[in-house]
Amino acid sequence: MPPAVEITRVSAPGWQEVVRLEAPSCGMVAFVAIHAGFQGRSFGGIRIHRYPNEHAALTDAKALAWAMSHKLAFAELPGGGAKAVILDHPDLQRQAAVRCLGDYVESLAGAWGCGPDLGFTTTDLATLQDVTRFVACQGLDAAAAAGVVASMEGLMDASNGRLADCHVAVQGAGAVGGAVVQLLRDRGARVTVADIDPSRSDCAPESIYDLEADLLCPCALGSVLNADTIPRLAVSAVCGAANNQLAEDSDAQRLHRRKILLVPDFVANAGAAILGVLQMLGQPAAHIEARLDAMRPQVEELVRLARQQNRPPRDLALDLARQRLQRRGSESEAQ
Ligand code: PHE
Repeated sequence: MPPAVEITRVSAPGWQEVVRLEAPSCGMVAFVAIHAGFQGRSFGGIRIHRYPNEHAALTDAKALAWAMSHKLAFAELPGGGAKAVILDHPDLQRQAAVRCLGDYVESLAGAWGCGPDLGFTTTDLATLQDVTRFVACQGLDAAAAAGVVASMEGLMDASNGRLADCHVAVQGAGAVGGAVVQLLRDRGARVTVADIDPSRSDCAPESIYDLEADLLCPCALGSVLNADTIPRLAVSAVCGAANNQLAEDSDAQRLHRRKILLVPDFVANAGAAILGVLQMLGQPAAHIEARLDAMRPQVEELVRLARQQNRPPRDLALDLARQRLQRRGSESEAQ
């Protein structure tokens, strides 16, 4: 008998569905936020993280699902954005919790295709795959990393530069950040790593914001670009894997005023979504490969256009994503 799970709907006007799941037998509380569906489907990963309280967890789930919608729309992937967070704590029976959430995913019969996000290990993924079919396979971290580096190459193409001549400050050398570091070193770039784990750091976590480098690559938590850190930055561009890097929308302007070019997170970190979504939709590997390869010229074009219009690339990318979301909305109304 699977453990009892209490499912409570959370009021969220304009959202497709936001629910709170609680399974007392394994100590699980989780929030699932589905921002928008498209053609009956939405996609997004599962994050396991220690939050100060439930409100912070719910806020994060919604912000991440919102970002997924824009990521998928910008990448022209047929699905809406979703995300789930499991509140981590010392008494959480992790594998049981993952199984509970997996049962919920399965009960939605494909409306939500899930996969890993921050804090979700390969063991967690194997457990999830035991209980639901609607989950992305392995390989997402490598695809996310490849997409970040492709985005940096696109930025270099638009700037007549070469990644091999760059010094990149990487924040976070976890599953994705670690793979980014490897790819950058393979390309001959100089890399400085900051991580909470001193064994994989070249500098103290806080010093990464002051480091003189060409690029900052945030690959850890969100909200790292804010009123405190932006004035300290000594890089000419930011391009990384972390979701929701800006603490506030106005931080995009703050960066723009300092002439620091931000490749928007939902553009630069779309590699995992492209692989995960297209694989779940049964697309052939060659097609998926081509879509991943297209990230480099797409970023090049976005950066060129933004420079021509003297706007932050994020504004342009959001405009495009919003147009696509609106078009989808009117298409589904017409059905
Ligand atoms: N969590 C990842 C992201 O933020 C990857 C992912 C995408 C997982 C789609 C599942 C489905 O993009």
